[in-house]
Amino acid sequence: MSISLKNRSLLTLLDYSAGEIRYLLDYAVHVKAEKQKGEVYQRFIGKTLAMIFEKRSTRTRCAFETAFGEEGGHPVFLSTQDIQLGAKESLEDTARVLGRMFSAVQFRGFKQSTVVTLAEYSGIPVYNGLTDEYHPTQVLADIMTLEENFGNAKGKKLCFVGDGRNNVARSLFVICAKLGVHFTVICPPELKPDPVLLEKCRPFAALSGAEFLISADLAEVKGADAVYTDVWASMGEEAKKEERVRLLKPYQVNQALMDRTGRGDSIFLHCLPAVKGEEVTADVIDGSRSRAWDEAENRKHTIKALMLATLS
Ligand code: CP
Ligand code: NVA
Repeated sequence: MSISLKNRSLLTLLDYSAGEIRYLLDYAVHVKAEKQKGEVYQRFIGKTLAMIFEKRSTRTRCAFETAFGEEGGHPVFLSTQDIQLGAKESLEDTARVLGRMFSAVQFRGFKQSTVVTLAEYSGIPVYNGLTDEYHPTQVLADIMTLEENFGNAKGKKLCFVGDGRNNVARSLFVICAKLGVHFTVICPPELKPDPVLLEKCRPFAALSGAEFLISADLAEVKGADAVYTDVWASMGEEAKKEERVRLLKPYQVNQALMDRTGRGDSIFLHCLPAVKGEEVTADVIDGSRSRAWDEAENRKHTIKALMLATLS
């Protein structure tokens, strides 16, 4: 069966089949190899990308902007200081106008409903570069990195330690369910994953063979191919920082926890930015088992693959 993602948005990977996700991951491996060989292409020539940011970003902005620009496209960075986004003009009207001027839109911000509305009213592909609910382009890079180390992700064990309800953990649930990755979340009971999302993912997991485990017990890290963590308080949750430190302190990823995998070859993943000394110690993230920097680089290859698949 041939796969075409032309003109598709990526709002959440819930909308993508396992085959479509596989296609994007394989495409990303291909564009990374092109880059490593020094091959230069101009596949976005004549195309424009609106990049809207309500929240800060290093990796996502740089990945979209450089991937699009180096292929001859014109990315336009728009912060909320620059653009009417539900201020003075409805979101729907802004989306309609963007659809008349751009080839695609990247949105990073708070509400998932904003990316949904942008896609609905612009009529062009919209990419979710992180909302409070999902971070789909991140987890494409995460699985790519896992596969660079262990081969096909199916049947591998990925263990997320930290805030089980955040956008990254939620997106990992989705991609693991689709691809048959066994996903363990270790978190305090107060930060357990959203049961509604779990119910949405269960049918996919039944098809792929993915197993989910949610536990407060750090011993469950045993056997993990990869241990993953993220900041204790996500963007927009700054007021909750103190409470999070109290809840998550016992869940810091340090060398002692990495050792509890019982495997010398387990890798460490982090979407970044990291607060060293909180969710992860410096020796782990800067150590030999860390793949956080490959993972950051892979953001660019996966994002380029996504834009090539949907735009060219
Ligand atoms: N991982 C990630 O999305 O990083 P930025 O917030 O820097 O974009
Ligand atoms: N959960 C984090 C991810 C940052 C890439 C946040 O939303 O701030």
